[in-house]
Amino acid sequence: MTDIPVELPGKPTAASRTTLSHIMTANDTNLLGTVHGGVIMKLVDDAAGAVAGRHSGGPAVTASMDEMAFLAPVRVGDLVHVKAQCNWTGRSSMEIGVRVLAERWNESTPATQVGSAYLVFAAVDAEGKPRTVPPVLPETERDERRYQEAQIRRTHRLARRQAIMALREERAAQGFDD
Ligand SMILES: CC(C)(COP(=O)(O)OP(=O)(O)OC[C@H]1O[C@@H](n2cnc3c(N)ncnc32)[C@H](O)[C@@H]1OP(=O)(O)O)[C@@H](O)C(=O)NCCC(=O)NCCS
Repeated sequence: MTDIPVELPGKPTAASRTTLSHIMTANDTNLLGTVHGGVIMKLVDDAAGAVAGRHSGGPAVTASMDEMAFLAPVRVGDLVHVKAQCNWTGRSSMEIGVRVLAERWNESTPATQVGSAYLVFAAVDAEGKPRTVPPVLPETERDERRYQEAQIRRTHRLARRQAIMALREERAAQGFDD
């Protein structure tokens, strides 16, 4: 962190909630003829990045992407909506939750959920160093649940990272060079 930690005024979830919509074309397909998972992941990263930038009021980078679930195939001609919001904030990091919905571009059938993901973004300054973000203020019961669930995921991410680092140090101390 480059700046002295200061408590910034909180920002409500709705202030940065974002939806990105895109029609899938033949350019987006994999060898099976359905939409490539990487195309969806790019849209997820784009939408989450917009939320992180809006919430933090400046540049933010993807630190991690986890729990990306593909629930149903996406087809050419689907109108895909990627809905993202800031679930949780730490000191300089934000967990962004994303839901992916698809509907036929020319039919009035309801959209169905085809994917979801959780990403962590870090707000950075001009030198790329983490900077403080405003605390997110959950507004609804659903926002509050998402905040609490994000905190559980944060705890697990940190615990997993620490356990792996400890194992590596232990193996290095035992003389393994892997
Ligand atoms: C993300 C990045 C800024 C973190 O920098 P750092 O020097 O490790 O800083 P810190 O350890 O203080 O981490 C900053 C915050 O990010 C969180 N973070 C860092 N790496 C993380 C990871 N892999 N998963 C989840 N959170 C992570 C930290 O917990 C910390 O959160 P907090 O401030 O809310 O407590 C740095 O690793 C980076 O620039 N990565 C490349 C990002 C990028 O280019 N993304 C696009 C990929 S193509």
